[in-house]
Amino acid sequence: MPSPIIPIRTLDKNGEEITTVGFTRFGFDSEVHLDVLRSLYLRPHYILTVGADDSEAEAVTKQEAQHAKFTAGLAAYQSKSIFHPASQSISYTTLSRFPPVRLLAPSARKRVLVTGGAGFVGSHLVDRLMLLGHEVTVIDNFFTGSKTTVSHWVGHPNFELVRHDVVEPFMIECDQIYHLACPASPPHYQFNAVKTIKTSFMGTLNMLGLAKRTKARFLISSTSEVYGDPEVHPQPEDYWGHVNPIGPRACYDEGKRVAETLTYGFHRQDGVDVRVARIFNTYGPRMNPFDGRVVSNFIVQALKGEDMTVYGDGKQTRSFQYIHDLIDGLIALMNSDETRPVNLGNSDEFTIGEFAELVREIVEKVQEEDGVKLPRRVQIIYKPMPTDDPQKRRPDTTRAKQSLQWQPRWTVRMGLEEMVRYYKAKMAEGSI
Ligand SMILES: NC(=O)c1ccc[n+]([C@@H]2O[C@H](COP(=O)([O-])OP(=O)(O)OC[C@H]3O[C@@H](n4cnc5c(N)ncnc54)[C@H](O)[C@@H]3O)[C@@H](O)[C@H]2O)c1
Repeated sequence: MPSPIIPIRTLDKNGEEITTVGFTRFGFDSEVHLDVLRSLYLRPHYILTVGADDSEAEAVTKQEAQHAKFTAGLAAYQSKSIFHPASQSISYTTLSRFPPVRLLAPSARKRVLVTGGAGFVGSHLVDRLMLLGHEVTVIDNFFTGSKTTVSHWVGHPNFELVRHDVVEPFMIECDQIYHLACPASPPHYQFNAVKTIKTSFMGTLNMLGLAKRTKARFLISSTSEVYGDPEVHPQPEDYWGHVNPIGPRACYDEGKRVAETLTYGFHRQDGVDVRVARIFNTYGPRMNPFDGRVVSNFIVQALKGEDMTVYGDGKQTRSFQYIHDLIDGLIALMNSDETRPVNLGNSDEFTIGEFAELVREIVEKVQEEDGVKLPRRVQIIYKPMPTDDPQKRRPDTTRAKQSLQWQPRWTVRMGLEEMVRYYKAKMAEGSI
C-alpha cells in the first residue's frame, strides 16, 4: 500500500486510528485503504499557473514540481487540471495510471449498475466498488451530478459511464442495481417538482422492471424524509411517518414513499430481491457546495469568512453521518439477507446552533494549521425557518446494528475536518 499522503490523522469514537474503510461480512470483503480512497477525492484537481514569460522547458519543470508537491506520493493516481493564465485556458488529463483494483475471480466479480452514480453518494460508492474489483456501469442524466466526480475512472476496463435519464427504460445485464438517481437537496428537487416525482416513480419502476428481468438484486436509496416531521423520536423503521402530502417538500418525500411501495410491490408480486436503505443526513467531499444543505453552507461561509446562517432559532436538531459510514452501510445491506427497510444514519444529535459552532471551530483549526490568519471571527446569524423543515430527526439504528452489524465509525468532527480540507482545495482551484 502507498504511504499516507494527506496529513490527517483520523480517529474513531474510541480514539482508534481509522486507516481502512469497509469490512468482511456476509461473505463479502469490502475493505479498502483510506489513503487510496482519499487520493481520489481529496485533491484530485488543481490549478497550475505557468508564468506567461516561461519557456516551454521552464513551464514543464514548474508543472512537474508543482504536481509532485500537490500529489505528494500518489502522483500516479492523480489527474491534473492545469490553468494557463496567458491564454485563459484549462487543460485536463485523465489518470496516467489507475489505482490498483482487486483482481476477482469471475464468480466473485459482480456486474453492478449504479443509477445516479455521478452524484455525491453515487460517486463514493463507485470508487469503492471499482477498488473492490467489480464491473461498474453508471447511468446518470447529470442533473445534479457531474462527470468530474467519476472522470478518474473513465477509460478503465471495468468502468462505463452512460448519460441516461432513468425516467426512460434502460436495458443491461447486471447482478446488482444500486438505484440512487434522484436529486436530494431541497433547491434541486423543488426546481422541478413534477420531474422529481417522475424520477422517483418512473425511474424506480424502470429499474425494478430491469431487476425483475435480469434477476438482479435491487437496492433503493430511500430517505429519512419518509418520516416527514416525526412525532416519534428517534425514528425506528416501523414508524409510518408524518408527511405533508401537498407541501413544497412533498415531491421528494412522497416520491420516495411511493418508490418504497413500488419496491415492495415487485418484491411480493414478482419475487424481486430488494433492499431499502433509509438514509439520514449525510455529508462529505463532493457534496455540491451550493445546494443549500446545512453542512456545505456552513463550511463554505466559514471558509470565505462570511457570517454563517442558521434558519430558525438554531434549536432544531439534526444528526450527520459521514459518507464512508453510509457507503459501508449500503454495501453491507446489499450483501445481507435483510429485505426490510434499514435506517442508515449517525445518531449523535446536535442542535443546528451547536453544529454551526463546531464547524466554525474546525475551520479555524484547519486555517491555523495552514498558517492562514483570519481578519475576524465569523458570526452566526439567525433567519426565518423555511416551510415544513422538520424540527427533529434522529435515526434509530438498532436494526442496522442487529442485522448488518453496522454502526457509524466516523465522528462528526473527523468527517468535518476532511470536508473542510476538501472545500479548501476546491477554493484554491477556483471552483468555489
Ligand atoms: N445525501 C444525503 O444526505 C441523502 C439523504 C437521504 C437520501 N439520499 C438519497 O441518496 C441518493 C443520492 O443522493 P445524493 O446526495 O448523492 O444526491 P445528488 O444530487 O448528488 O445525486 C443524485 C444523482 O442522480 C442523478 N439524477 C437525478 N435525476 C436523474 C434522472 N432522472 N436520471 C438519471 N440520473 C438522475 C443526478 O444527476 C445525480 O448524479 C438519492 O436517491 C437521495 O434521495 C441522500
